[in-house]
Amino acid sequence: MKILIIGGGGREHALAWKLAQSPRVTEIICAPGNGGTASGNAKIRNAADCGSDNESLLAFATAQGVDLTVVGPEAPLTEGIVDAFEARGLRIFGPGRAGARLEESKTFTKEILAESGVATAAYGSFQDAGEAHAYIDAQGAPIVVKADGLAAGKGVTVCSGLAEAHAAVDEAMVENAFGTAGATVVIEELLLGEEASFIALVDGEHVLPLASSQDHKRIGEGDTGPNTGGMGAYSPAPIVTGPLFERATTEVCEPVVRALRARGITFKGVLYAGLMIHEGRLQVLEFNVRFGDPECQTLMMRLKTDLLDLIDATIEGTLDQVQIEWDPRAAACVVMAAEGYPAAPKKGDPIAGLQGAAGVVDAFVFHAGTKRDEAGQTTTSGGRVLGITALGASIQAAVERAYEACEKITWPGARYRRDIGHRALHEDSNRP
Ligand code: AMP
Ligand code: GLY
Repeated sequence: MKILIIGGGGREHALAWKLAQSPRVTEIICAPGNGGTASGNAKIRNAADCGSDNESLLAFATAQGVDLTVVGPEAPLTEGIVDAFEARGLRIFGPGRAGARLEESKTFTKEILAESGVATAAYGSFQDAGEAHAYIDAQGAPIVVKADGLAAGKGVTVCSGLAEAHAAVDEAMVENAFGTAGATVVIEELLLGEEASFIALVDGEHVLPLASSQDHKRIGEGDTGPNTGGMGAYSPAPIVTGPLFERATTEVCEPVVRALRARGITFKGVLYAGLMIHEGRLQVLEFNVRFGDPECQTLMMRLKTDLLDLIDATIEGTLDQVQIEWDPRAAACVVMAAEGYPAAPKKGDPIAGLQGAAGVVDAFVFHAGTKRDEAGQTTTSGGRVLGITALGASIQAAVERAYEACEKITWPGARYRRDIGHRALHEDSNRP
């Protein structure tokens, strides 16, 4: 089987790496891919000369005779790539445009949560800046201001004071810092607790939860500083204990899938619930409609089942018949980032030590912002450069193994957090 993977980050490298292990997969083409998918695995290569818009990808998949397309990031999904491929009879993994609204619009998500009776922060949604300001004055601080649409992880401001909240409204609605994504804002109650990523496969009807995981969104140690795409992750997330894991399936994902169906939306693909957990209470912070990055890297390291079987069952509506098997060990991913990330990452630096890191047992270096030139040199080409992922008997052991590999890799200005997994290290467990 010939597979096209859309995207070029660490998540997509991890998906390609895992799919290449399937005996049924003969060839994987990544569009655009990165330095890690350019070579090193006989089944995986990057697409030459393929545009990134949905029309170009459709033409490429057709011309190449691709049997299955796997979509990594959210943008092609919200732009309707699944609808376009299916209309041409092509197999593709991911939700259609209507389902992708769960990630595209926070107001839509809030409506679906209300219709499904799932707990979330109290909120107001505004298209008028004056009304937004009045709501903030009425509610008081602390409060959270969110651009409704996709804002590359930058649209959420957790505000400790009123002035900050008013400024966040103006940034989105008056200064248009997020373009049309900020034309509507959602203002919500600040939730306290610990966050976890709950990622499930959904086939339109059945929900198959994957192992729990958690990422570190902030750039700085101790979870401080600006938000990023994610500086590291681990799986399992010890906060998601057995009963909470069940409840995240039956009290969050399943009701949401039913509420979507009641609106005529058949959701197929990855449903990622960002949860806030406090004293046994589950509340939804957000949904994504694709794998988390770097959570995906830890999940793919632990997944023993053939990923292609899971994708097939998702498309065919047979997830209720699937058994999923996990490596009982924990996995940790440490993201190595470029100087200047997230604001203005420096690019073009040659990366040294990749071979040495490849020799670390039970570790794997997933590439993200890298390029490989014809001479075989790998250079940095983005903010998050590498995701060093390792398995270990405990989260602590996995983290230590990942750092052992990180220490072998260098380029000018390389940086990474030294405290990945710090929350979990107090309450380590090996539950899925
Ligand atoms: P979101 O994109 O909605 O998940 O928000 C990004 C990050 O902002 C989350 O991972 C949380 O750390 C934080 N956040 C969002 N909404 C809230 C909330 N209501 N209360 C507390 N923190 C929040
Ligand atoms: N790591 C968070 C995300 O992928 O959205």
